[in-house]
Amino acid sequence: MHRNQITELLKIEYPILQGGMAWVSDADLAGAVSNAGGLGIIAAGNAPAEWVKSEVEKAKKITEKPFGLNIMMMSPFKDEVCKIATELEVPVIITGAGSPGNYLEIWKKRNIKVIPVCPSTSFALRMERYGADAVICEGNEAGGHIGQLTTMSLVPQVVDEVNIPVIAAGGIADKRGAAAAFMLGASGVQVGTRFLVSKECNAHQNFKNKIISSKDIHTVVSGINTGHPVRSIKNSLTNKFKKLERKGAPMDEFDSIGRGALRNAVVDGDIKNGSLMAGQISGLIKKELTCSEIIDEIINGAYSLIESFNK
Ligand SMILES: Cc1cc2nc3c(=O)[nH]c(=O)nc-3n(C[C@H](O)[C@H](O)[C@H](O)COP(=O)(O)O)c2cc1C
Repeated sequence: MHRNQITELLKIEYPILQGGMAWVSDADLAGAVSNAGGLGIIAAGNAPAEWVKSEVEKAKKITEKPFGLNIMMMSPFKDEVCKIATELEVPVIITGAGSPGNYLEIWKKRNIKVIPVCPSTSFALRMERYGADAVICEGNEAGGHIGQLTTMSLVPQVVDEVNIPVIAAGGIADKRGAAAAFMLGASGVQVGTRFLVSKECNAHQNFKNKIISSKDIHTVVSGINTGHPVRSIKNSLTNKFKKLERKGAPMDEFDSIGRGALRNAVVDGDIKNGSLMAGQISGLIKKELTCSEIIDEIINGAYSLIESFNK
């Protein structure tokens, strides 16, 4: 029942990916999601290649199933990380914040599956031409760095344009969101915020609790005028960003309060001045479950919903 283009391509049981989340998705989370039948993804973020190497090696010990590595193409360590991912033959590479460029050909030769995150149809078409195996279409409901379009608008437009499988991301945290994504033509879903609040996720409990207590309107987008919009839960840090935006402050003023802020939230649990990157769907997340329970609820739930409509 769950088998489709995405499960076949990635050799996984359920068509669900755990979104790569810088500082959040390490080998423990990725391994747990892969063991539960989805595709767990380690996020390289801005980490150096040695960290990535040790997490990939750790994940290989936690799970025998396929897992992925999310590489931020804006990372200062991008080239070293891309090289190490090739050497370690990570089964799936997800690229964010830019094009994988020449690496795509290198990875394809090694039979590594490559899935870029796409904010628009033109970018998705370009990635298909370059040889991407699938695309992730992430709407701006998502937590973290975002594009301009919503999941609801982006996914069907990309589905109509490309011939490779489309994975929907942004605002999906339960069976209804996944069922909607499948109806829009997606072959899989990528879920971030919901997995941040999983039992196996090592993010600080303060961060998880903040998501659990959030309501629908509690996330805001900062950094629109810097060209790098980020969605996170409103706090002192986002208020400071807003003030800087109002006065048209230069980039280095944003950098000076934003540097290390995600780490401070995820590792130290600083919910005041840390960056609480999370999606608009935070208001729907009420408790911490295991990755296996989350996958069961989202995917088996979505298929039951779709079946009940067909009756
Ligand atoms: C804390 C956090 C960090 C993230 N870091 C990254 C990242 O490093 N690379 C990336 O491509 N996407 C990143 N994302 C986006 C997720 O991979 C995923 O696409 C997104 O969370 C899906 O939307 P949702 O949060 O509504 O489920 C991040 C999201 C969150 C919440």
